[in-house]
Amino acid sequence: MGDLVQFTKSGNIGVITINNPPVNALSPGVPEGISESIDQLHKDDGLKAAVLIGGGSTFIAGADIKELAKMALGKPRGAGLLALLSKIEDCSKPVVAAIHGTALGGGMEIAMACHYRVAVRSAKVGQPEVKLGIIPGAAGTQRLPRLAGIAKAVEMCSDGNPMAAPEAFELGIIDKLIEGDLLTGALAFAHEIVAKPLPKTRERNNKLGAPEQNAPIFAAARENARRKYRGLIAPLAAIDAVEAATRMPFEVGCQVEQKLFADCLVSLQAKALMHVFFAEREVAKIPDIPKDASLIPIKTAGVVGAGTMGGGISMVLANAGIPVLVKEADQATLDRGMANIQKNYANSVKRGRFTEQFVEERLKLIQPTLSLDGFASVDLVIEAVFEGMALKKEVFAQLDKICKPGAILASNTSTLNIDEIASATSRPPFVIGTHFFSPANVMRLLEIVRGKATSKEVIATCMQLSKKLGKVGVLVGNCRGFVGNRMFHPYMRESVFLLEEGATVEEVDSALYDFGLAMGPLAVGDLAGLDVGWRIRKEHRHLEKPGIRQPFAGDRLCEMGRFGQKNGAGWYKYDENRRAVPDPEVTALVRKWAAEAKIPQRQISREEIVDRCLYALVNEGARILEEGYALRSGDIDIIYINGYGFPAHRGGPMWYADTVDLKNVYSRVLEFHKLHGELWEPAPLLNQLAAQGKTFAVYSKEQRNFQMAGLF
Ligand code: 3HC
Ligand code: NAI
Repeated sequence: MGDLVQFTKSGNIGVITINNPPVNALSPGVPEGISESIDQLHKDDGLKAAVLIGGGSTFIAGADIKELAKMALGKPRGAGLLALLSKIEDCSKPVVAAIHGTALGGGMEIAMACHYRVAVRSAKVGQPEVKLGIIPGAAGTQRLPRLAGIAKAVEMCSDGNPMAAPEAFELGIIDKLIEGDLLTGALAFAHEIVAKPLPKTRERNNKLGAPEQNAPIFAAARENARRKYRGLIAPLAAIDAVEAATRMPFEVGCQVEQKLFADCLVSLQAKALMHVFFAEREVAKIPDIPKDASLIPIKTAGVVGAGTMGGGISMVLANAGIPVLVKEADQATLDRGMANIQKNYANSVKRGRFTEQFVEERLKLIQPTLSLDGFASVDLVIEAVFEGMALKKEVFAQLDKICKPGAILASNTSTLNIDEIASATSRPPFVIGTHFFSPANVMRLLEIVRGKATSKEVIATCMQLSKKLGKVGVLVGNCRGFVGNRMFHPYMRESVFLLEEGATVEEVDSALYDFGLAMGPLAVGDLAGLDVGWRIRKEHRHLEKPGIRQPFAGDRLCEMGRFGQKNGAGWYKYDENRRAVPDPEVTALVRKWAAEAKIPQRQISREEIVDRCLYALVNEGARILEEGYALRSGDIDIIYINGYGFPAHRGGPMWYADTVDLKNVYSRVLEFHKLHGELWEPAPLLNQLAAQGKTFAVYSKEQRNFQMAGLF
């Protein structure tokens, strides 16, 4: 049976224990071990029933995604789990699944093939396959509706969110909630049911409903999936499979599920989403920082600046239970900042995200102040004052004097050099960048910026803190704009160039929206405020290289006072609910300006819009990767998915380029280079990988002993 599954006895009850840490995934050997255990149960006359339980901290978290990823790339599928599940269900003695931690995917499917399920209250169950671009592949879509009813089953299979054990108990997915030790409770339960007839989930048809009852449920689920999971195929396939359960006998329903599962598994979307699953876990691994690096305990924090970012960051810290002092420059601004925090919390209560009690407790953790005195005892300070080097250095010099030795001093700067900020202190090893994205209490991304001197302990602490804050922390090097904004710049530049060459605002935005981005680039510009970039460009105009084309239409709009959403007009016009309305005046103005600038006008295809914008991202991403400002191409993907609305089902910009084939990307970049000049100089790494027939993903794996760049 190997080491992965153990079969032991507790009196006349067999105990099947899965031991495949960390999550008891169904890796090769686990299904075989369970199958042999069922044989033993069957054969041993002294045994009356069995409990199936997970060793360690969880039941079974599902199929081994590494194996699924190989199958997605063409490795032949084995017998699958279906035969094992029938074997469990057809066993002549009852099998009780005892659940703690999570029973997910194939783990849930095994539990549903058992005759009974018991669980501790903290356990969670679910069919999360859609998050990997697939659907349940071992009769989950056929057994779950038989236990939970159609509405819940369709929701669980198409949303993929786990359900807490108490709710699963109410629905009938779980037969008993166990208080105290799970195995003890499960054994007692097994004794209770041992003489009862064996319930088989596949034969329970009483919750399958009638077609006229089910039709509106499926229609609503499909509408929801099309809206919430725009462009994704798996949620709709999952709904089709659950619907099959209501229309066909169990075995035929399983065949329908198998076909849909197989179609999803080989899709580009599944490959991309599995890449995202692993990339999101990989970002936590920093080659030169051991897993067990010592950490600085963060029990209290301070935030300097209660503006847009400082307010949001204070909420993030408080939400994680960390008391936070918020310092502002004057009373009126401090009051305004606190009022904004309260308003944001009130909105969260309104939307049902937080309870009033939760918010009350969090607000007590946020202490406004006008002095830095209280910062002497905090473990971490995050500075979020205006973006200006002189001011940042002044604040860091003050913090250096006041804060205790060993406190981490972090800056939320989005563009400035962390090393220069650190030079204002006597402790550069304790200075780091923590670049939150706006709104900080909503966006999942946190770029953690490694300075030249930042200590490993400080980096490890911030990486770990990001998890506690509910963020995905990605370590990046200290270059202008770090990773995300450095790439965003050429992306936005191309979007404006395209307008100036003849595309309309709606054409540019809709091409990228339809590709899957949460918003088109011009709508994003309006949201962020067109004036932000305009001010920076005005300041740095003297640094621009003569003869290099610069986008100008956005700046002209700013000169007319059109700053974007904040004042009701930018690339679009906005109504009182901040809903965007196309503005023909903008198209006319851009045409006029383009004529004055003698830019030839032409019809621009959607394909060109997508290629120009996305390959501008990719070309810059390739430079960043080669220069060592990102550790892996997957890190860049995670940044774009979590901070910039890039569709996860495309895998992120670098993964997307890999799927297009870097040879094709390179030749398109060369084409743009010929037409548009220096700005499109192909990144040397893109050139190299295209010539070698490699991908960014393979290059990232080959980069061992990787040293992250530490200088501008
Ligand atoms: N297969 C392979 N590896 C897995 C895995 C899985 N199903 N689930 C987790 N892991 C690995 C992670 O990659 C990570 O590895 P690392 O330490 O080398 O980075 C390690 O286990 C721990 O995972 P997390 O860091 O995510 O640990 P958490 O405690 O935060 O979360 C979890 C645990 C909730 C189980 C989370 O890992 C998770 O959601 N896993 C995926 C569950 C899932 O999608 N299951 C369905 C699979 S598809 C399926 O079953 C098809 C079936 O219908 C046939
Ligand atoms: P903001 O203008 O909304 O807030 C800055 C606040 O700092 C103001 O309230 C100001 O009164 C306060 N302040 C200035 N000097 C101070 C001092 N000495 N002590 C205490 N408070 C002081 O600016 P925002 O947008 O919050 O930006 C803050 C930082 O975050 C900047 O470095 C910015 O580049 C960065 N950032 C901004 C993002 C955004 O989308 N707004 C996104 C990511 C980073």
